[in-house]
Amino acid sequence: MDIEVRGIHKRFGAVHANNNISLTVKGGRIVGVLGENGAGKSTLMKILSGYQPADSGDILLNGTRSQYHTPQGAIAAGIGMLQQDPLDVPAFTVLENFVYGQKTGFVFSPRRWRERLKAASVRFGFDLDPETPIANLSIGQRQQLEIVRLLSMGVRTLILDEPTTGISAEQKAILFNALRALAKTDGMSVLLVSHKLEDVIALCDEVVVLRGGRLVGTQTMPATTKQLVSLMFGQELAPPAHICLTTPKTAVALESVTLKGKRVTIEEFTMRIRSCEVIGLAGLEGSGQEMILRACVGLVRPTHGRVMIGEENVTGQSYRDFLAHGIAFGAAGRLEEGLIAGLTLTEHIALMNEQNALVDWARAKSLTEQKIKQYNVRGTPQSQIETLSGGNQQRLLMALMPENPVLMALEQPTRGLDVDSARWIWQQLLDRRANGTAILFASPDLDELVTYSDRIFVAYAGRIHEIRDATQTNIDELGRLIGGNFEKEIAV
Ligand SMILES: Nc1ncnc2c1ncn2[C@@H]1O[C@H](COP(=O)(O)OP(=O)(O)OP(=O)(O)O)[C@@H](O)[C@H]1O
Ligand SMILES: [Mg+2]
Repeated sequence: MDIEVRGIHKRFGAVHANNNISLTVKGGRIVGVLGENGAGKSTLMKILSGYQPADSGDILLNGTRSQYHTPQGAIAAGIGMLQQDPLDVPAFTVLENFVYGQKTGFVFSPRRWRERLKAASVRFGFDLDPETPIANLSIGQRQQLEIVRLLSMGVRTLILDEPTTGISAEQKAILFNALRALAKTDGMSVLLVSHKLEDVIALCDEVVVLRGGRLVGTQTMPATTKQLVSLMFGQELAPPAHICLTTPKTAVALESVTLKGKRVTIEEFTMRIRSCEVIGLAGLEGSGQEMILRACVGLVRPTHGRVMIGEENVTGQSYRDFLAHGIAFGAAGRLEEGLIAGLTLTEHIALMNEQNALVDWARAKSLTEQKIKQYNVRGTPQSQIETLSGGNQQRLLMALMPENPVLMALEQPTRGLDVDSARWIWQQLLDRRANGTAILFASPDLDELVTYSDRIFVAYAGRIHEIRDATQTNIDELGRLIGGNFEKEIAV
């Protein structure tokens, strides 16, 4: 299906989020949508997929002007979108969710739907068991489910907004193969919003670049990362240099801990994080690295062993106690865990900083203004958190962190950030590290792990391998270790 958008405008108060955007996407093509945080990418995708109306402008599908005002209308017209933060109904099973919103006819036949689901899963190599509750699915599996659901509703254009944040490399490969097959074999068009330039290079036939709400460039692929970065930012960015600042002082230690999770158990694991150290945690989703991180912040309790903060044994204490001891935690799911939809920026700052029952709102507001400036957040103290672009939510999350904690434990600290913003966030982290804070972070981004870590712990099915000097590793070796290949490692 060919899509053409002509002169799309969308304003949110003073923000001109889409300013006269026109572009064409031909059937069978995969088009990357690039642009810095807040450029207007999600806004345009939501307009195309019926989640919000444009102020003005036209959408033409196969040359015909089309009008729809809801996601259901867009799907009926052939356009379906995967949201940046996947929304589905957690109480349902995979099968129920698959059938949800579809025309099932007078007699609902679970067997027929189960077979349709299975056929789609087999075609794309998706891992979808019909009886599993949605709540037990990984982000990658939720995404697979949403794709087969949209396809079976007859969608001919698929829009994906940052689909590879939070999914494993393996799931990413499956997703990309499915998208290639849909474009090349089925002639579908695909719009992919992404900050991961290597993904865009691997997948897209062409790219469009937004900046400040305008379309500022288009490029037919192949193109290099360098070319794409300069298209986006008008300049190249220098890669950061690695500096080790390790001290002998222990910030946090896990001593012979056993951590029991839903899928894996880690036994007798010891990790000593020193002050000023940057430790990366690598692994496919669900390999155990998330548990290690959460054990360090008091959210997962070991069944054996001890957790130490400095010299103090804090085993079994609550998350609040850990906070009081100077541990800061940034969760991966922005709106699920870190931030609260419906609250303004000021309310978030007040929640973090006010100890008293009576909030001093004037003080909270001026503190919020200061943080907005310091962290370069695009928003106002009165903005509700969900109106911020994904990248700006991440910046706010960073602004909510205490200034000088003993340890900052972060799940995917640069999830959804453009290259420039990701560098900036790391600069903030490294500045705190220079003041004595230890940094522990988990990331699916191998480049980020290799670039910033002093040491890396790789988890595979609950087994842990330590890379003692991360400056001596590279993404190929790390990729091999993440796949569980611990034996054939290069001798140091
Ligand atoms: N519902 C809304 N209310 C108010 N402002 C909004 C709303 N939705 C988006 N905006 C603003 O519009 C601008 C563009 O946001 P958008 O989410 O489209 O950016 P983006 O390119 O997707 O960024 P990111 O890469 O960070 O996800 C931002 O300044 C954002 O704060
Ligand atoms: Mg966005």
